[in-house]
Amino acid sequence: MSNPQFPFAARMDGLSGSAIREIFKLLRLPGMISFAGGNPAPEALEEAVITDVAQHVMSQDGKAILQYGPTEGYGPLRVRLCDWLRGFGFSPTTEEVLPITGSTQGIDLVCKALVDPGDAVLVENPTFLGALQTLRLYQANIVPVVSDENGIIVQALEEAMRKYRPKLLYIIPTFQNPTGVTLAEDRRAPIAALAEKYGVLVLEDDPYRDLRYAGRPMPAIKGYDQAGWVAHLSSFSKTIAPGLRCGALSADEGLIRKLAICKQSVDVHTSTLTQAVVSEYLARRLLPGHLADIRKLYAARLAAMLEALAAWPEGTRYTTPLGGLFVWVRLPGGMDASELLSRAVEKGVAFVPGSHFYCQDAQADTLRLNFSNSEPDKIRRGMAVLQELIREMPG
Ligand SMILES: Cc1ncc(COP(=O)(O)O)c(C=O)c1O
Repeated sequence: MSNPQFPFAARMDGLSGSAIREIFKLLRLPGMISFAGGNPAPEALEEAVITDVAQHVMSQDGKAILQYGPTEGYGPLRVRLCDWLRGFGFSPTTEEVLPITGSTQGIDLVCKALVDPGDAVLVENPTFLGALQTLRLYQANIVPVVSDENGIIVQALEEAMRKYRPKLLYIIPTFQNPTGVTLAEDRRAPIAALAEKYGVLVLEDDPYRDLRYAGRPMPAIKGYDQAGWVAHLSSFSKTIAPGLRCGALSADEGLIRKLAICKQSVDVHTSTLTQAVVSEYLARRLLPGHLADIRKLYAARLAAMLEALAAWPEGTRYTTPLGGLFVWVRLPGGMDASELLSRAVEKGVAFVPGSHFYCQDAQADTLRLNFSNSEPDKIRRGMAVLQELIREMPG
């Protein structure tokens, strides 16, 4: 096979994506216990329900669904999204909501519309790997802001806004990926106020909000947004099905118009069949019941994982999330999580070393554990393997 040397654009410099892809290849090995992905449980994917919903929408509106549609989205879905988003603590109009092809696309569109090479973008550190990848593709100057167990520290955020004059703050306030941490309620209004004061768009990525297993829900940062400086991303990937590729971006109407221009050149519009399926799913009020089922399923898995972690060697530290899909762990004695992964994979267990989620100052002794994708028994077995390996490893 030839090996052409393609003249790649500068934005591709240093973007290999290989380390994490190698981990995900391992997951296909038979018998592997995976704490690596962020996938819903197979039991949570309702193929019979979705088939029924899809058949219904095709029989009702098949010609329109199969035709090109408006970039701004399928009308009935926009209306239902407005209703659903009220539960997040804000009430958009249909013009303030854009159906998107997964929240991944929302991150891309906002970067496309706002970020020039070298522009400062503030992030939590660690943060979602997919967002880091997108920010790197847009050649952003990615600047970390310090967080504690209650999320980003408001004073540190204001200092960073003053110092770097960023275009954007990218933040996952609820059950963060990768740490599972939730931004305290009393930090939310101040963040919205800072966005307005410094003219920085807050991109609030909120795919885990409905996966709450304890405590009471709190309004999104967008709920405190007086002047349109917060753009909110939601997704049905973690609740209905990631393969549908459907989410929603809620923002100021003028910003939505610009993002729709960007979207035209990406995919013209999100698949109308997908939008119609999600619209009908919401119209039938299937989501609350389904959420109740998967919350129960995942809460038991989280409990199994936390119970196993309590037995790990002294010095292990970990978050105790109230929702979401991940627990974040710091190994005892500065142990290297990548070294642990190499050993774990030989014993049939996989996870993602935490270093991949940092934009700088990567902490090698951290790891992210996903609990949604394995039954409690499997979780206990996999966690016991890791526990044993940690005991054997030189600290
Ligand atoms: C914080 C965050 N944002 C976005 C996504 C991607 O979601 P989607 O499937 O809606 O593109 C994920 C998935 O893991 C995530 O954790």
